Amino acid sequence: MSSPIERLAELVIGTVESISTDEIRVLLDLDAPQSTALNTGTPTSFPRLNSYVLIPNEAGATVAYVTWIGIERSPYPKRSGLKDFGLIDLPFPLRKMTLSPIGTLTVRRDRRAGRSVYELSRGVVAFPSVGDQILIPTPEQIAAIVGAKDTDRRVRIGSSPLAANTSIMVDPDKIFGRHVAVLGNTGSGKSCSVAGLIRWSLVAAQSALKGGAQVPNARFIILDPNGEYARAFADQKDYVRLFRVPPVNAEVGERALRLPAWLWNGHEWTAVSYAKPGAQRPLLLQALRDLKTGNLEGVPPEVLVRRYVYSYRLLIDALLARGPAAFAGDAGPRRQCGELLDNISNDCDRLSQRLGVELQVALANIAASVRDVANNRRSNNGWFNAFSVEEIESVQTALQRFLDAVEDGLAAAQVTEDAPIPFDVDMLPDHLERIAATEGAGLAGFISTLGMRIRGMMADPRLGQVVGSEPALSLDAWLNDLVGSNASANGQVAIIDLSLVPSEIVHVVVAVLARLTFESLQRYRRLHPEGRPLPTTLVLEEAHSFVRRGFNDEGPAENPAQLCREIFEKIAREGRKFGLGLMLSSQRPSELSPTILAQCNTFLLHRIVNDLDQALVARLVPDNVAGLLKELPSLPSRQAVLLGWATPIPLLVEMDELAEEHRPQSSDPDFWDVWTGKSAREIDWLNVVQDWTGAP
Ligand SMILES: Nc1ncnc2c1ncn2[C@@H]1O[C@H](COP(=O)(O)OP(=O)(O)OP(=O)(O)O)[C@@H](O)[C@H]1O
Ligand SMILES: [Mg+2]
Repeated sequence: MSSPIERLAELVIGTVESISTDEIRVLLDLDAPQSTALNTGTPTSFPRLNSYVLIPNEAGATVAYVTWIGIERSPYPKRSGLKDFGLIDLPFPLRKMTLSPIGTLTVRRDRRAGRSVYELSRGVVAFPSVGDQILIPTPEQIAAIVGAKDTDRRVRIGSSPLAANTSIMVDPDKIFGRHVAVLGNTGSGKSCSVAGLIRWSLVAAQSALKGGAQVPNARFIILDPNGEYARAFADQKDYVRLFRVPPVNAEVGERALRLPAWLWNGHEWTAVSYAKPGAQRPLLLQALRDLKTGNLEGVPPEVLVRRYVYSYRLLIDALLARGPAAFAGDAGPRRQCGELLDNISNDCDRLSQRLGVELQVALANIAASVRDVANNRRSNNGWFNAFSVEEIESVQTALQRFLDAVEDGLAAAQVTEDAPIPFDVDMLPDHLERIAATEGAGLAGFISTLGMRIRGMMADPRLGQVVGSEPALSLDAWLNDLVGSNASANGQVAIIDLSLVPSEIVHVVVAVLARLTFESLQRYRRLHPEGRPLPTTLVLEEAHSFVRRGFNDEGPAENPAQLCREIFEKIAREGRKFGLGLMLSSQRPSELSPTILAQCNTFLLHRIVNDLDQALVARLVPDNVAGLLKELPSLPSRQAVLLGWATPIPLLVEMDELAEEHRPQSSDPDFWDVWTGKSAREIDWLNVVQDWTGAP
């Protein structure tokens, strides 16, 4: 039995020879271990690149990792008091290391446990000095360095190959709460790590359930462009919702991916239709407002009619706001004003047919008085003389009279183009044409292209299934399905298989999904009695294709890809407050939006070979740990460097093994086995073609 001092002495392996802020040079003792250290109690590999050593000081010990090991030949130390016999000393091989300091290990007395515990903190409190001793950490100290003992680190994700295979645990609040990026080359293990993080977190939560809960109240929404996650969670049918482009196989629990176009907000419509600012955009938004106000299912006819009348009043309001130039100025605007009045009176006549007797008369009277105003100023050939302000105001008052007479059950005034209110999208092209006719010339071209695009979209069976309104769907049902129901009773994981979503709409689908998730969580928190958020994780695979680094960061999104980047940037910036965490996975970090990367607080870096990408991730970490990243190009799959908010110091992790059937479906193609007939591949192209063309 050795005394504590003796035990400490056994762990000494060298002394500090020189020191600077980012590098410590160490002379290893002659008897320091050559490959395996037995003196820590368990056999540990030592010395080894990137493994940890301690340099004791008054505050505890500085933790450093090994960045270089080598042999230098130096003159044998001078022997004092001995006579020089004229012999020449041959240079003597001495083993040396350089270290990079990364943190401080302190000892704290834990009164309840009645023993000392080690704690790691970021930063170096006291730099060692020349001659200080270097120790190998004991297993207990290593556990403290990699954080295996922290009580809030509840999920085991793997082990540390550099620290005696100590468990590496993470705190889910830190990993998911502040966005995590999983980066690495193809085949480096990103998808497995993502699937593993979700699975291991859920398993850990399941075993720690409190208060009678049956299942974890967790929410993961996986946006899966390659359709690989369905397999990874196939064993969890009851807890996983799988969404696919229709037609779906409901027998195996697949659900239809639906994102009806009425859910899109004005911004999204603008980007999808490529509407230009100036005339096109306001017109489109106006049309959306009109339809969203006017067309609600199951609404009494008078309320419907009221909504139309309301939108006419808005048009008249706009006319008055533009001033006399709009109705008393040039011939062009005068004619538009007259035509608007004609449209209003005709529509009011038509709409009055839908109403009961009393309101019918009221609306017909309004139609008549509006027609009078127009007829008074009508000149020949469809032109109009100048209208007076009083005349236009009389139209406004007449319309307002009807609005006052009918109670608005649905607060028409508050409907914006962004409100997720069902409307008949097929009516949008017609309605656009109608208001374009009243609003001004020069829009016909845009309206017809936009109309064609919208009609085409709705008629295209592939797109229509996703963005069409049939069968009817309510927003709360949609949220229950996609974001998850109360207490996650319908499962913790929603997998959205985007692999068959037509490429024209995949960006819109992802953007709308992300926005609806974000906004629903925003509203959830606002309505929660104590203002608590609902923790949810949005997983974005292949993030580089959805949140690409962009050049045009000014102004509203011009196209769907930009739209997509914009919403994810917003989530990256603001999601945390509403409980929405992002988990991104990408092969090309250098192509990702810098805003999003900058907001990720935790990184799990797999093998990265490309030098641009390496340079980018090196910029994410402080200089003194950049050495650890030099390993990135040579990391085997399953190994990764974890760094950032979730861990005080960067750690090399050997991710836990995922069972074959729990891995995302992305195994490397087995060329040889297929070539040599070991693995069969029958071909039936007809079958493929039928599936492709949607033929029965
Ligand atoms: N934790 C793990 N457990 C078991 N196998 C793993 C693990 N991590 C990676 N692998 C192996 O590595 C292979 C590739 O992993 P994965 O599909 O996750 O790569 P990827 O980085 O997502 O690639 P891509 O960028 O092409 O999608 C897997 O098929 C699996 O065999
Ligand atoms: Mg992958």
